[in-house]
Amino acid sequence: MPFSKLRTEVEKIVQEHEAPVDLRLKEICELLKAEIPYYTWVGFYFKNGDKNELKLGPYAGEPTDHTIIPFGKGICGQVAVSNKNFVVPDVSAQDNYIACSIHVKAEIVVPLFKNGENIGQIDIDSNVPDPFTEEDERFLEFVNEKVAEIL
Ligand code: SME
Repeated sequence: MPFSKLRTEVEKIVQEHEAPVDLRLKEICELLKAEIPYYTWVGFYFKNGDKNELKLGPYAGEPTDHTIIPFGKGICGQVAVSNKNFVVPDVSAQDNYIACSIHVKAEIVVPLFKNGENIGQIDIDSNVPDPFTEEDERFLEFVNEKVAEIL
Protein backbone atom coordinates (compact mmCIF):
# COMPACT_ATOMS: atom_id res chain seq x y z
CA MET A 1 0.00 0.00 0.00
CA PRO A 2 1.45 3.44 -0.89
CA PHE A 3 2.25 5.90 1.89
CA SER A 4 -0.59 8.23 0.76
CA LYS A 5 -3.18 5.49 1.30
CA LEU A 6 -1.52 4.43 4.56
CA ARG A 7 -1.85 7.99 5.86
CA THR A 8 -5.61 7.78 5.33
CA GLU A 9 -5.76 4.40 7.06
CA VAL A 10 -3.77 5.70 10.05
CA GLU A 11 -6.14 8.68 10.35
CA LYS A 12 -9.11 6.29 10.37
CA ILE A 13 -7.61 4.22 13.20
CA VAL A 14 -6.79 7.33 15.24
CA GLN A 15 -10.44 8.42 14.92
CA GLU A 16 -11.86 5.16 16.34
CA HIS A 17 -12.78 7.04 19.50
CA GLU A 18 -14.59 4.15 21.15
CA ALA A 19 -11.44 1.96 21.12
CA PRO A 20 -8.81 2.28 23.90
CA VAL A 21 -5.77 4.28 22.82
CA ASP A 22 -3.36 1.34 23.26
CA LEU A 23 -5.52 -0.79 20.98
CA ARG A 24 -5.45 1.93 18.32
CA LEU A 25 -1.66 2.18 18.61
CA LYS A 26 -1.37 -1.59 18.27
CA GLU A 27 -3.60 -1.47 15.17
CA ILE A 28 -1.31 1.15 13.64
CA CYS A 29 1.72 -1.08 14.34
CA GLU A 30 -0.01 -4.08 12.76
CA LEU A 31 -1.06 -2.02 9.74
CA LEU A 32 2.45 -0.74 9.07
CA LYS A 33 4.05 -4.13 9.59
CA ALA A 34 1.52 -5.81 7.26
CA GLU A 35 1.57 -3.20 4.51
CA ILE A 36 5.22 -2.15 4.28
CA PRO A 37 7.22 -5.22 3.31
CA TYR A 38 10.53 -4.03 4.81
CA TYR A 39 8.96 -3.14 8.22
CA THR A 40 9.80 -6.28 10.22
CA TRP A 41 9.06 -4.95 13.71
CA VAL A 42 7.05 -1.82 14.54
CA GLY A 43 6.62 -0.46 18.05
CA PHE A 44 6.12 2.58 20.23
CA TYR A 45 8.27 3.42 23.24
CA PHE A 46 7.23 6.11 25.74
CA LYS A 47 8.99 7.96 28.55
CA ASN A 48 8.37 5.94 31.72
CA GLY A 49 6.77 8.42 34.11
CA ASP A 50 9.39 10.80 35.48
CA LYS A 51 12.24 8.29 35.00
CA ASN A 52 14.91 8.88 32.38
CA GLU A 53 14.03 5.68 30.58
CA LEU A 54 11.76 4.43 27.82
CA LYS A 55 9.09 1.80 28.32
CA LEU A 56 7.81 -0.40 25.50
CA GLY A 57 4.23 0.35 24.44
CA PRO A 58 2.12 -1.32 21.76
CA TYR A 59 4.06 -3.13 19.03
CA ALA A 60 3.75 -5.65 16.19
CA GLY A 61 6.34 -8.35 15.59
CA GLU A 62 8.35 -10.69 17.77
CA PRO A 63 8.37 -9.99 21.52
CA THR A 64 11.50 -8.17 22.66
CA ASP A 65 13.43 -8.41 25.95
CA HIS A 66 14.08 -4.67 25.71
CA THR A 67 10.94 -3.41 27.41
CA ILE A 68 12.88 -0.76 29.36
CA ILE A 69 15.65 1.28 27.69
CA PRO A 70 17.61 3.90 29.66
CA PHE A 71 17.96 7.33 28.01
CA GLY A 72 21.17 7.42 25.97
CA LYS A 73 21.32 3.64 25.42
CA GLY A 74 20.83 2.14 21.98
CA ILE A 75 19.27 3.90 19.03
CA CYS A 76 16.03 4.46 20.94
CA GLY A 77 17.74 5.87 24.02
CA GLN A 78 19.77 8.25 21.88
CA VAL A 79 16.61 9.60 20.19
CA ALA A 80 15.08 10.18 23.63
CA VAL A 81 17.82 12.77 24.26
CA SER A 82 18.58 14.07 20.73
CA ASN A 83 14.92 14.77 19.76
CA LYS A 84 15.92 13.91 16.19
CA ASN A 85 15.11 11.16 13.72
CA PHE A 86 17.75 8.43 13.68
CA VAL A 87 18.06 6.41 10.47
CA VAL A 88 20.44 3.46 10.70
CA PRO A 89 21.09 1.84 7.30
CA ASP A 90 23.40 -0.80 8.80
CA VAL A 91 23.01 -1.67 12.48
CA SER A 92 26.35 -3.55 12.52
CA ALA A 93 28.12 -0.21 12.01
CA GLN A 94 26.65 1.23 15.26
CA ASP A 95 28.51 1.01 18.58
CA ASN A 96 25.60 2.21 20.71
CA TYR A 97 23.02 -0.28 19.50
CA ILE A 98 20.80 -2.78 21.35
CA ALA A 99 20.19 -5.88 19.23
CA CYS A 100 16.68 -7.33 19.45
CA SER A 101 17.19 -10.02 16.81
CA ILE A 102 20.18 -11.25 14.85
CA HIS A 103 18.14 -10.86 11.65
CA VAL A 104 17.74 -7.08 11.94
CA LYS A 105 19.83 -5.15 9.40
CA ALA A 106 18.49 -1.60 9.69
CA GLU A 107 16.45 0.58 12.02
CA ILE A 108 14.64 3.92 12.03
CA VAL A 109 13.48 5.78 15.13
CA VAL A 110 11.36 8.94 14.95
CA PRO A 111 10.58 10.95 18.10
CA LEU A 112 6.97 11.66 19.10
CA PHE A 113 6.23 15.15 20.39
CA LYS A 114 3.25 16.26 22.47
CA ASN A 115 3.03 20.03 23.00
CA GLY A 116 6.64 20.31 21.85
CA GLU A 117 7.91 17.72 24.36
CA ASN A 118 9.61 14.48 23.28
CA ILE A 119 7.41 11.91 25.05
CA GLY A 120 8.24 8.80 23.07
CA GLN A 121 9.00 7.42 19.65
CA ILE A 122 8.10 5.01 16.91
CA ASP A 123 10.75 2.37 16.25
CA ILE A 124 11.00 0.24 13.11
CA ASP A 125 13.38 -2.68 12.62
CA SER A 126 14.04 -4.06 9.16
CA ASN A 127 15.55 -7.35 8.04
CA VAL A 128 16.41 -5.59 4.76
CA PRO A 129 19.68 -3.62 4.58
CA ASP A 130 19.43 0.15 4.02
CA PRO A 131 15.69 0.27 3.16
CA PHE A 132 14.63 3.64 4.62
CA THR A 133 14.24 6.87 2.65
CA GLU A 134 13.07 10.40 3.45
CA GLU A 135 9.59 9.17 2.51
CA ASP A 136 9.66 6.85 5.53
CA GLU A 137 10.76 9.74 7.75
CA ARG A 138 7.96 12.04 6.54
CA PHE A 139 5.41 9.23 6.86
CA LEU A 140 6.48 8.27 10.39
CA GLU A 141 6.48 11.95 11.45
CA PHE A 142 2.89 12.11 10.17
CA VAL A 143 1.97 8.95 12.14
CA ASN A 144 3.44 10.42 15.33
CA GLU A 145 1.62 13.74 14.85
CA LYS A 146 -1.67 11.89 14.50
CA VAL A 147 -0.94 9.66 17.51
CA ALA A 148 0.00 12.72 19.61
CA GLU A 149 -3.54 14.02 19.10
CA ILE A 150 -4.98 11.11 21.13
CA LEU A 151 -2.34 10.96 23.89
N1 SME B 1 17.43 -1.66 18.56
C1 SME B 1 16.89 -0.75 19.53
C2 SME B 1 16.27 -1.49 20.69
C3 SME B 1 14.83 -1.73 20.54
S1 SME B 1 14.46 -3.02 19.52
O1 SME B 1 14.86 -2.66 18.14
C4 SME B 1 12.88 -3.43 19.54
C5 SME B 1 17.96 0.20 20.02
O2 SME B 1 19.14 0.06 19.68
O3 SME B 1 17.62 1.11 20.77
